[in-house]
Amino acid sequence: MYLPMMTPRRYITVVLVLVISIHYILSIAFEDYKRISSLSNWGSNLHVSEETTQENGSYAVALPDMLYHNATERANATFVLLARNSDINGVVSSMQSVEDRFNKHYNYPWVLLNDEPFTDSFKERVSIITRAPISFGLIPKEHWVQPDWIDEDRARLGRQKMMAQRIIYAGELAVALDYYLYLSYRNMCRFNSGFFFHHELLQPYRYYWRPDVKFFCDINYDPFVYMREHDKVYSFTISLTEWAPTIPTLWSTVKEFIATHPDYIDPHNAMDYLSNDGGDSYNLCHFWSNFEIADMDFWRSDAYQAFFDFLESKGGFYYERWGDAPVHSIAAALFARRDQIHFFRDIGYRHESFQHCPQGDQWSVGRCSCDPADSFDYSPNSCVRKFENLFS
Ligand SMILES: *[C@@H]1O[C@H](CO)[C@@H](O)[C@H](O)[C@H]1NC(C)=O
Ligand SMILES: *[C@@H]1O[C@H](CO)[C@@H](O)[C@H](O)[C@H]1NC(C)=O
Ligand SMILES: *[C@@H]1O[C@H](CO)[C@@H](O)[C@H](O)[C@H]1NC(C)=O
Repeated sequence: MYLPMMTPRRYITVVLVLVISIHYILSIAFEDYKRISSLSNWGSNLHVSEETTQENGSYAVALPDMLYHNATERANATFVLLARNSDINGVVSSMQSVEDRFNKHYNYPWVLLNDEPFTDSFKERVSIITRAPISFGLIPKEHWVQPDWIDEDRARLGRQKMMAQRIIYAGELAVALDYYLYLSYRNMCRFNSGFFFHHELLQPYRYYWRPDVKFFCDINYDPFVYMREHDKVYSFTISLTEWAPTIPTLWSTVKEFIATHPDYIDPHNAMDYLSNDGGDSYNLCHFWSNFEIADMDFWRSDAYQAFFDFLESKGGFYYERWGDAPVHSIAAALFARRDQIHFFRDIGYRHESFQHCPQGDQWSVGRCSCDPADSFDYSPNSCVRKFENLFS
């Protein structure tokens, strides 16, 4: 009784081992096989095969040698930070984080912008953080303050309404949100949406990196060169859903824009990242813009300029609280090809209260200081899965 039972079971085991081995050998030998097989049901749940399934869409696994530290060919690029004098401690630690993990090898310049002149002590404290050139710029009033044609009574009402809605948030988050409800935060969102890339100190550059706040891992290659070599226009590390009360009419405005300028919409766009119903409604997904590496020539393009002017004409930066994150994200998703948006999966990054921590080899090679178990990527409010689905 016992022996005859063993034979079929052993047979099944042998067949299973064979199938798995063949799959493994084929995976190693043929990238195409791996891509096809990992799309099948059982493969799509395996993290091992995920990294090579998306060649063009999202992220690189192996980078060409030319991109490493010894690269002599630099990109036309700069760091940019918007800061007030009182932000000095945060600015210094953001800069230190980027310098230690990346820029001490490259010395890309820094451009710091403020709506009032930087103090001498501010300049002195940031100057010792980097050997790279730093420029201190003043934001022109017309790019910062609420325009005269905005109806201040209506804008105030909008701010008060949002204050009232904020009460549903408790404790820590409410305190954090207070800052975001200020008028000056609206100025900042509008400036980041429509004006920073026109600032005279940024005119000489094409790519910029907005690094705010903390980097966990060594960045052993030049992400700017990566952007240029792979024809990317926008990149992110964290993607999440927006707080709906800040953008009640943003999507209807976007649809109105699309209807009047269908020619600006790229046929290979990422609408499915923004919308679950083909563009009818917005699913609130956006890329978190406190980290951005992007192409300013994209923001300077006719499509984006027309888009920003249209949004501006509706006053939603002040009557509501349209953030630069959804504005940038929507534009990148509609006016660029979806494969021109890049997920820097290998860059460990935190901005309170969320972080992206690289996994596996990327975590160890990067000497990352974050806990790989603590990464926002597949949390309920993350939109990374939506982004990945664009390429599957
Ligand atoms: C992916 O990129 C490679 C080169 O970078 C290109 O040859 C290929 O056509 C691209 N594939 C798709 C599906 O876009
Ligand atoms: C850059 O460094 C890598 C790794 O050390 C090396 O393989 C490559 O040949 C170097 N490239 C140049 C242009 O020196
Ligand atoms: C850098 O890019 C800007 C914007 O595209 C351009 O005006 C400038 O000429 C470029 N500089 C170099 C050295 O290529």
